[in-house]
Amino acid sequence: MRPLFAAAGGVALAIALAGCGTGGISKGAADQEHGKKLFLGKGQCAGCHTLAAAGSTGTIGPNLDDAFAQARADGYKESAIRNIVHEQIKYPGQYEVAQNNPSFLSANMPANLVRGQDAEDVAAFVAANAGVQGFAESQLISGTNGKLIFQKKCAGCHTLKDAGTTGTVGPNLDQLMPAFPIVQKQVTNGGVKMPAFKAVLTKAQIDAVAKYVAARAGK
Ligand code: HEC
Ligand code: HEC
Repeated sequence: MRPLFAAAGGVALAIALAGCGTGGISKGAADQEHGKKLFLGKGQCAGCHTLAAAGSTGTIGPNLDDAFAQARADGYKESAIRNIVHEQIKYPGQYEVAQNNPSFLSANMPANLVRGQDAEDVAAFVAANAGVQGFAESQLISGTNGKLIFQKKCAGCHTLKDAGTTGTVGPNLDQLMPAFPIVQKQVTNGGVKMPAFKAVLTKAQIDAVAKYVAARAGK
């Protein structure tokens, strides 16, 4: 496996962010509605992440529905996902970035976009929603139409002209042109950043999407 996002040793991206202080520090339970507002706020999460519950379609960072559909399929509880998101807000990975190069991220996630109770609220909102619909959707994919599976499960992260997708989290598949066994293995087991789909798609569906990618990439 190629180490895709080679850690570059703290090359933090300085993004000027509008302050998001809301004044009201809610004590006690996290406020998901407030978390959603923050998620959608200017310069916040929505610009970089796809999340159906927020109606956001950002592609700079991973699709959060896809990322956490996998975690849910693996049996992670909502409380665990909440912790993962909260930690990610505080300590996002910082990787080498490059523009117009499908092997690299185009930007890093800045640390502490939201703090304190705001961070708790955003984490609670994401944990309650991410991957719920994504996973339900995958259950609905009853057939083995490789193109449709690709558009539902892979689009957020990969560019493939034939499917009309423009994701940039993973490599551009038109450039990579992977052979069937490579796609099949990658989709089944996942990779460094890519989630595994063996609990989300059936074997026949994995074969179908792998066949589709192998046949259409670069066309
Ligand atoms: C400038 C773009 C950008 C913004 C803004 C941003 N992120 Fe990210 N996010 C990324 C990137 C790139 C990654 C992948 C690298 C990493 O894991 O650190 C990521 C990773 C994540 C992950 C881990 C997903 C996984 O598959 O492991 C979560 C959760 C997350 N972000 C949540 C958020 C939340 C919540 C916010 C808003 C407070 C936010 N992000 C704002 C770019 C962004
Ligand atoms: C959350 C983002 C994400 C999703 C969803 C995703 N991928 Fe990936 N994919 C990646 C990343 C990132 C890589 C680079 C290697 C790694 O880190 O796993 C990658 C790598 C690949 C590779 C190259 C493997 C190799 O050996 O070079 C193929 C092929 C691939 N993905 C196909 C797919 C298909 C088909 C789907 C849908 C079933 C899919 N991916 C869904 C992020 C994603």
